[in-house]
Amino acid sequence: MGKQQPRVSCDAGYLQLNDRESRLLNGEWGFFADNMGAFGLKRSRNVFEGLDPQKEDRAVEYDIDSFDQISVPGDWNTQKEEYFLFEGFGWYTKRVACSAEEIAAMTKDGNRLFLRLDGVNYAVDVWWNGKELGSAELPFLPLSFELNADQVQEDNLLVVRVDARRLAHRIPAERYDWFNYGGLIRSVRLISTPGVFIGQAAYNDTRILSLNGVEAVVDGSYLVEVRGEGDLDGLTVKLEIPELDVVEEMSVKEASTLNFELKNLSVTLWEPGSPRLYAAQISLVRDGVSVDQVAQKIGFKQIECRGTELLVNQKPFFLKGIALHEERLGDRGGKPRNLEDIRALIDLAQETGCNFMRLAHYPYDEEWLRECDERGLLVWDEIPVYWEMTYTDERTQKLIFESAVRMVEVSRSHPSILCHALANETWELEGRGAAMGRAFEALVELDPSIPKTAAFNAPFQDGKYDVEVVEHSIYEHVDVVGLNEYGGWYNPPLKELTNANVIVGSKPLFITEFGAAGPLGTSGEPDVLWNLDSQKAIYEEQIKMFGRCEKLSGWTPWVLKDFRSTLRANGFQKGWNRKGMVGPNGEKKPVFELVTEEFSKKPTFSS
Ligand code: GCU
Repeated sequence: MGKQQPRVSCDAGYLQLNDRESRLLNGEWGFFADNMGAFGLKRSRNVFEGLDPQKEDRAVEYDIDSFDQISVPGDWNTQKEEYFLFEGFGWYTKRVACSAEEIAAMTKDGNRLFLRLDGVNYAVDVWWNGKELGSAELPFLPLSFELNADQVQEDNLLVVRVDARRLAHRIPAERYDWFNYGGLIRSVRLISTPGVFIGQAAYNDTRILSLNGVEAVVDGSYLVEVRGEGDLDGLTVKLEIPELDVVEEMSVKEASTLNFELKNLSVTLWEPGSPRLYAAQISLVRDGVSVDQVAQKIGFKQIECRGTELLVNQKPFFLKGIALHEERLGDRGGKPRNLEDIRALIDLAQETGCNFMRLAHYPYDEEWLRECDERGLLVWDEIPVYWEMTYTDERTQKLIFESAVRMVEVSRSHPSILCHALANETWELEGRGAAMGRAFEALVELDPSIPKTAAFNAPFQDGKYDVEVVEHSIYEHVDVVGLNEYGGWYNPPLKELTNANVIVGSKPLFITEFGAAGPLGTSGEPDVLWNLDSQKAIYEEQIKMFGRCEKLSGWTPWVLKDFRSTLRANGFQKGWNRKGMVGPNGEKKPVFELVTEEFSKKPTFSS
């Protein structure tokens, strides 16, 4: 049996969605902004009991049915003016009616019932009918909490308290360059599963044995995690990939992780320009009858690092990247509310001809990965280990480790994943090596064939950027290097860029951030900052520098779209980072066309 994989301890485990039916609890929820902190409504007013002040003989100081109403999914900040800068505790309430038939269906034959939060910012406490289901401090990642059958009534009260405070032990900590959109930022749903069920399944670890264009013979691994206590006798896991005539079966001796080793499959590979997906079905079978099954779309691709070359499907690959924040288009900003919001951003990115997306700074909704699978876009996913961290704090260590584990549990089943990033612009501080090393090692366990990475800074000295001159205890763990450099904007000034260079050391390296602010509607001298002309001049010099560095594996401007950030407080920006290639509503700046032109010149695969 597969040995125990690294685990997240703060919830009931990763409950992979696949095509599993779920009852969405999205829509209007009651909301109360509690700025009194931990001793607020939780300690002195048991909101989660849902008492009615009209019916109690003691003073009840809250009234759920008189709470404000806001939408889930969605941050609270952009839904009401009074919540815009609120970073405290948000109390959410939802009355959930379940018909007798629904209750019977959810609880029959030892079925199990889970509440799944697809993603929150930052931490949550959850109650169901006044009973605590659990708490979790794990932002931007799916969480599940189990309900007992006897807890489900015809009328139920779900109460979730979201804690969106900036705290020094968290990742990110108190200072970061994006807006702190708090709340139930992704969908909330009820999922019923059999007593023993398929918790997650992931095809990965493709090894190409022979290659002819995009046709190949490959080996690969299909991991299936079976969960549940119940009776396992006679249970088998059946894996089917009909187009490849794959039908494999393995007995379940204990609820653990099974590994199907797939051999000599003749497939069409998945890659940008040819995102071939295959339908797979994983079933839990007893006496020939399926007791649980999930369907997935899988893809066959191999990523390798060979010296300083980055290979996709054994071909040297040039990353033409777009980086962004998970913030919807529009003057208000805010987290995407639906698939349309997500697709609008990816459509805009794809207009440049990019082949890669850096989903920067924290994990995004899993819909992004599904979209990139279908569109043939490679993906960089990232946990928010960003700038200053308190690595010596055990809570920080747990957050780093568990965020890495859950992020990879989500992304490793997606063919679009290119690399997993565990840090952005962090510096050597006490405890960094140990805390980060443990997280990087977990990635080797969870997704051994996908490169590990991080985005580094490098000082500009002697006319060049060289990451390897900096003492980074995490450098040994990365397989491919991301470099953030702002020549022409932060350091050095534009005039010193004409002969500057980027040093590619011992590992594949690509530029993960460069750029400059260009507020919409501005113009000026190319060597005077804060206008569209200087933004374009800096891009032009940067792109010339990239051309001088033939070993570079690609480049990614920072950033697709202007985005909200409290850090950006001067008159040009007024609370928005104006380095976007487009404005808040997608208004294209001159650099958008420049990048599109450059991407069109550069082949994705170098011969
Ligand atoms: C850094 C950081 C980004 C930030 C950018 C900027 O490189 O990684 O999150 O937005 O600089 O200065 O705009």
